[in-house]
Amino acid sequence: MHDFDLFVLARTIHVVAIVFWIGGVAFITTVLLPTINKVVDKEQRVLLFEQLEHKFAWHAKLATLATGVSGYYMLDFLNAWQRYQELQYWWLHLMTFVWLIFSLVLFVLEPLFLHRWFIEQAKKDSNKSFKLLQKMHYILLSISILAVVGAVSGSHDYF
Ligand code: HEM
Repeated sequence: MHDFDLFVLARTIHVVAIVFWIGGVAFITTVLLPTINKVVDKEQRVLLFEQLEHKFAWHAKLATLATGVSGYYMLDFLNAWQRYQELQYWWLHLMTFVWLIFSLVLFVLEPLFLHRWFIEQAKKDSNKSFKLLQKMHYILLSISILAVVGAVSGSHDYF
C-alpha cells in the first residue's frame, strides 16, 4: 500500500473512532444521565450508571487506542511534531490533552481507585455524587467538542 493511502486510512480510522467515542460521551451526558436523574430512585442512580457505563468503558478504551495510534501515525507522516511548539496549532494541543485525560481516567484512575471511590461516595451522599458525575461529563464533552471543531477547521487550514 502506498504511504499516502496509509495516511488516508489513518485519518479515516481516527475520525471513525472519534465519532464512536465522543458520540458515546455525548449520549451519556445529554440523554442517559438526565434520564437516570429523572426516573431512577436517588439511592440507585450512581450504582445504575456505573453498571451502564462499564460496557461503554470498553468501547472508549478501544477508541482511545485507535485514535492515539492513528494520530501518532499522521503526525509522523506529516512530519509535524514541531506543531506542538506553535500556538496556531492550539487544536493539536487540545486534541492531545483530551486524549490524555480520557486515557488517564480509563486506563489508570478507574481501575486503580476512581470506580471504588465513586461507589463509596454514592453510598454517603447519592445526590451530591450524581451532580458531580453530571458536571464532570459536561466539562469533558465540552472540551471534546471544542477539540473536534478546532481539529476539523485547523487541519483544513482555517487558522
Ligand atoms: C494523542 C492524540 C491525538 C493525536 C496525536 C492527534 C493527531 C491528529 C493529526 C496529526 C491530525 C491531522 C492533522 C492534519 O491533517 O493537519 C488529526 C486530525 C483530527 N483529529 Fe486528532 N489527534 C489526537 C486525538 C484526537 C482527539 C482526542 C480528537 C477528538 C476529540 C481528535 C479529533 C480529530 C479530528 C476531528 C481531526 C480532523 C479530521 C479531518 O477533518 O480530516 N483527535 N489528529
